Amino acid sequence: MQPEDLDEVLRVEAASFAEPWTREMFQREMTPGVAVALVARSSEDELWGYLCGSVVVGEFHIDNIAVEPRVRRQGVGKTLLLAALREAARVGAKVVFLEVRASNLTAQALYRRFGFTVVGRRRRYYTGPAEDALIMCLDHLDEAVAARSRAERA
Ligand SMILES: CC(C)(COP(=O)(O)OP(=O)(O)OC[C@H]1O[C@@H](n2cnc3c(N)ncnc32)[C@H](O)[C@@H]1OP(=O)(O)O)[C@@H](O)C(=O)NCCC(=O)NCCS
Repeated sequence: MQPEDLDEVLRVEAASFAEPWTREMFQREMTPGVAVALVARSSEDELWGYLCGSVVVGEFHIDNIAVEPRVRRQGVGKTLLLAALREAARVGAKVVFLEVRASNLTAQALYRRFGFTVVGRRRRYYTGPAEDALIMCLDHLDEAVAARSRAERA
C-alpha cells in the first residue's frame, strides 16, 4: 500500500464498514519497519482489496482487511491474507492476532480456513453498532504458511 492507493482504499473501506477508517488511520498503518500493508489489484489495475497490520516483537496484529464488494468470494481475501502472513513470517512474526465482530461469520470463515482459532472475547469492543469482538489467534505461523501454500498449489 502506497499513499497513491489511498483514494481507492477509502472507497472500498466506505463500502465495507459502517464506521470506516479515515485517511489518517491508513497513513498511520503505513509506518515503515513495522507495517504489513498490502493491496490487491486486478490486471486492469483496479484496487480489489487491502490488508493492514503490524509486526511487533514477534506478533503480527491484523488491523484491517477488506475486498471490493463486486469481487468478493473469488479468492482475493485468501490471496491477501496468505501474502500478509508470508511477509509477517519473513520479518520474524511467530504468532498472529486479530479482532473480528462476533456477527461477522464471513470473515471468521476466512480466518478459520487458515487455522485461526478463537482465544477470547472483548465485550462491547465495537461501536456502530455496539458488539463484542472475538479475538482470534494463529500460532506456529511458519507451519501455517507452509500448509496454506501447499493447499493453494493442490
Ligand atoms: C471478509 C472478506 C475480506 C473476505 O474476502 P473475499 O475475497 O470475499 O474472500 P475469499 O473469496 O478469499 O474467501 C475465502 C474464504 O472465506 C470464506 N468466505 C468468504 N466469503 C464467505 C461467505 N460469504 N460465506 C461463507 N464463507 C465465506 C470461505 O471459507 C472462503 O473460501 P471458499 O470460497 O474457498 O469457500 C470480505 O468478505 C470483506 O471485505 N468483508 C467486509 C469487510 C470485513 O468484514 N473485513 C473483516 C474485518 S475483521
